[in-house]
Amino acid sequence: MKFAPRVFFRCSRSMLLASAMLVSSLATSALAEDAPGQKVYDRVCARCHGPAGEGAEAPTLVPLNHTADQVLYIARLGRGEMPPLPKNTISNEEIADVVAYLTTLAAH
Ligand code: HEC
Repeated sequence: MKFAPRVFFRCSRSMLLASAMLVSSLATSALAEDAPGQKVYDRVCARCHGPAGEGAEAPTLVPLNHTADQVLYIARLGRGEMPPLPKNTISNEEIADVVAYLTTLAAH
């Protein structure tokens, strides 16, 4: 029991990393409009960051100069005017999908 929290942290972190890697490898081989993060981005982020991540009330996200971990951290805790986004609004996997989508936009 003593080691359970540490084991949990390791597992969830490596699963997140693995899913982020899987998503980004899928995203690079798929067309931008097929990116799974696009729908999530449109639903959750676009109203503040602009329909194509170009920035509106909130700063531009293209090119994305944050790692997937940093985006997850910002999304969960909020930053300045950006409110924390709860898990029932967007899951860790969906945030990884959004990061992959934004990376695709940066490539264009
Ligand atoms: C309610 C409006 C709002 C929503 C929704 C929102 N953001 Fe933000 N976001 C902001 C604002 C405002 C900032 C600037 C915060 C600051 O530095 O004061 C910001 C900052 C950020 C930053 C840091 C940018 C930088 O250059 O420092 C990232 C990354 C980010 N948001 C990602 C996201 C993602 C991904 C989503 C969707 C999952 C999202 N945000 C949803 C308003 C929002």
